[in-house]
Amino acid sequence: MNLYSLIRDVKDFPTEGILFKDITPLLQDREGLRASIDQIAEKLEGVEFDLVVGPESRGFIFGVPTAYKLGKGFVPVRKPGKLPYEHISETYALEYGTSTIEMHIDAIKPGQKVVIVDDLLATGGTTRAMVNLIEKVGGEVAKIVFVIELDSLNGRSVLEGYEVESLLHY
Ligand code: PRP
Ligand code: MG
Repeated sequence: MNLYSLIRDVKDFPTEGILFKDITPLLQDREGLRASIDQIAEKLEGVEFDLVVGPESRGFIFGVPTAYKLGKGFVPVRKPGKLPYEHISETYALEYGTSTIEMHIDAIKPGQKVVIVDDLLATGGTTRAMVNLIEKVGGEVAKIVFVIELDSLNGRSVLEGYEVESLLHY
């Protein structure tokens, strides 16, 4: 199934000049939703791993069903102040200012292999920070899969050395 027709362009969101790729038409389409998870799972065929790691918020939407389908566990990476137990943090640069993400200290055991799933690769800042968190606790990133990749922003350049695949490219 071709998913491109289920991604909506929204002009000037969240700020003027940005053409936002809206995944909500894909999510509300029962065939589109199923196909997106099936296609992420196909990208992980033959990959050996223990856990799917996904970032709040949209990474949860695609990460959990992928983990369920492949019979793996799920690790949430969260925005600050949400995790109840001992956690580590990683701060990364945005166009203006910084952002922080957090993960429980015991979410991944040393030597465990994980895959990262998220809806979008833009600058790669979020994913790079996730890789840093995963490696800090001794995890190994086996593959990274996105629904959408914005090729022009070259987020791949900060993920060099990792296997990165996306379902849709713009
Ligand atoms: C968005 C998107 C990706 C990230 C990509 O998340 O869902 O996670 O930005 O951008 P990057 O490659 O430049 O880091 P965001 O935290 O903005 O919103 P969300 O809570 O809706 O996922
Ligand atoms: Mg996100």
